[in-house]
Amino acid sequence: MHVNTGRVPVASVRLLLPSPVVELADDRMARHGLRLFLKRDDLIHPELPGNKWRKLKYNLQAAAEQGHRTLLTFGGAYSNHIRATAAAGRHFGFSTIGVIRGEEHRPLNESLAYAAAQGMLLTYLDRTAYRRKADPELIAGLRERFGEFYLIPEGGSNALAVRGCAELPAEIDVPFDVICCACGTGGTLAGLAAALPPGRRALGFAALKGGRFLDEEVDRLQHEAHGENSGDWSIEYGFHFGGFARRTSDLDAFIADFTARHGVTLEWVYVAKMMYGIFALAERGAFAEGTRIVAVITG
Ligand SMILES: Cc1ncc(COP(=O)(O)O)c(C=O)c1O
Repeated sequence: MHVNTGRVPVASVRLLLPSPVVELADDRMARHGLRLFLKRDDLIHPELPGNKWRKLKYNLQAAAEQGHRTLLTFGGAYSNHIRATAAAGRHFGFSTIGVIRGEEHRPLNESLAYAAAQGMLLTYLDRTAYRRKADPELIAGLRERFGEFYLIPEGGSNALAVRGCAELPAEIDVPFDVICCACGTGGTLAGLAAALPPGRRALGFAALKGGRFLDEEVDRLQHEAHGENSGDWSIEYGFHFGGFARRTSDLDAFIADFTARHGVTLEWVYVAKMMYGIFALAERGAFAEGTRIVAVITG
């Protein structure tokens, strides 16, 4: 894709789109009469993988069209979205500012060191202030400090992100009944669900504990993007493994076994929890025999 800001070198980034769809041969699915396909969005680009690219695509375009030179966004110290925004800035010629939750810790962890190496300016907000990240007063304060910027919300989820994620279902060239994705802010599910052909449903897996607000968020994002709540979707809340960025030995064993069987190492904060959930639901008989499931590998 090309985003020409008119002031900086035009970036040309090679993206693997549409991303591949591959069927997984797994006896745990076959014995329930189920078929499982992986939508390998993780292969779109090494630095802009999966839903990161889909969410940023129209935001980058909007930023360029509105004449912005700088992107500012929010995230935790291990945020994949912060990393991807930093990389996108470098590739597409924007300065980037990352507003990070919590105190600064030196040396920087690997994620923040990567973001800084892409040229991202890092600044920090204590946890109380960070909760106000959508507050116009706080944003105005950031504008006073840093000048004009194009604002991308935490996790990259806004109406344009939903629009980008809504492009995914049309890329799936096999018949399917259910599409699954992991949920953090709900933007990916909002987009996928809005673009489903009739008769299909979308199933999200919350990666955080107490994520019940996600139903409202998906609803809100769909309204923001398309003016209505659309598509047949629901969220599973039983596979968070203790909460966001928490893991258990059971989840670790599942990931190791999945790598051994299929040669695919699942990203553990989101994707592995979804995949574990799909296999657990299959085992419980939650999918009718003959169901064809697509699991989106979002990173
Ligand atoms: C790999 C991966 N999968 C899924 C998600 C969740 O996506 P969303 O925040 O749109 O619900 C994220 C977070 O953005 C992620 O990094």
